Amino acid sequence: MAAGVAGTKVAVPCGSAHHCVYQSLGRRVVPAIPEQPSPSASYDPSAPNIARMYDYFLGGKDHFAVDREAAAKVLEHAPEVPLIAREGRRFLRRVVRFLVASGIRQFIDIGTGLPTGGHVHEVLGEYAPDAKVAYVDNDPVVIAHAWALLKGNGRTTVVQADFREPEKILTDPLLTGLIDLDRPVAILLMSVLHFIDDDAEAMRVVTRLRESIAPGGYLAFCHAVSDVCPERLAKLGDIYRQGPMKGAKEKAQRTTAEVARFLDGLEPIPPGVTAVPSWRPDPHDRADSAAAVWLVGGLGRKT
Ligand SMILES: C[S@@+](CC[C@H](N)C(=O)[O-])C[C@H]1O[C@@H](n2cnc3c(N)ncnc32)[C@H](O)[C@@H]1O
Repeated sequence: MAAGVAGTKVAVPCGSAHHCVYQSLGRRVVPAIPEQPSPSASYDPSAPNIARMYDYFLGGKDHFAVDREAAAKVLEHAPEVPLIAREGRRFLRRVVRFLVASGIRQFIDIGTGLPTGGHVHEVLGEYAPDAKVAYVDNDPVVIAHAWALLKGNGRTTVVQADFREPEKILTDPLLTGLIDLDRPVAILLMSVLHFIDDDAEAMRVVTRLRESIAPGGYLAFCHAVSDVCPERLAKLGDIYRQGPMKGAKEKAQRTTAEVARFLDGLEPIPPGVTAVPSWRPDPHDRADSAAAVWLVGGLGRKT
């Protein structure tokens, strides 16, 4: 499908939070919608949505009743999810700050989510206002919000693409017009890989993304793991498969040892792959939350 036109491709009911965003986009052309949308890629306000549920967990404003209902089921089984989401955002912040201090000025944030507080451009605004960031997500709701918020600042672009199509991401003119892949770049895969049910496919794509990074660049990820409380993770998997991931196949959860392989071939930045609160915590970060957090993350450098 060729480029879509905002406001016509994904109609939103009157009075919803997203209506204003789509109206404000008018008839501006937005990136192509994938040929074969993934289970989460089509816009359906009557079905729960990964990005809006995450926004709810983070205390954002962009969610519907259907998202809150699905989120309530998650919270019934895992009341720690909002804490984990916040810890994920703190990890993202520390990683971006580390990367800026290491000289990185180009970022590709895949599975970026709604621009709830603490997003990459906000962290960059504090530490490296000159840095560039390409946001990538397969969800038209996320894309519309990102366009509306970030249009025309010259340092940010927004690409609608599925993680599973790395060539599309890496050759999209919106991305290549901003990001020079011949120079070091940081690719961020924060809380997105656990939505890719096929282990081999997840590894294939991460391998391709790693290959695309010039020496001196980095890859960072965080991922929910089953080591801490496997039954709880399995239950959350069921809830997501009945809701925003309808159609995804049931699969074994990944362990820390398995997800650590996403950094294969890269030089691991200490402390390696660990529960996110333990990754280079700031002195004022709570020291006791790591035990309850089943989200691990890590950062690797291409040499
Ligand atoms: C839990 S949110 C994480 C947001 C953000 N990265 C963070 O860590 O705060 C997951 C995001 O991944 C996106 N996503 C899920 N599957 C995807 C896929 N196959 N391709 C691209 N994005 C995907 C969702 O739309 C959502 O915005």
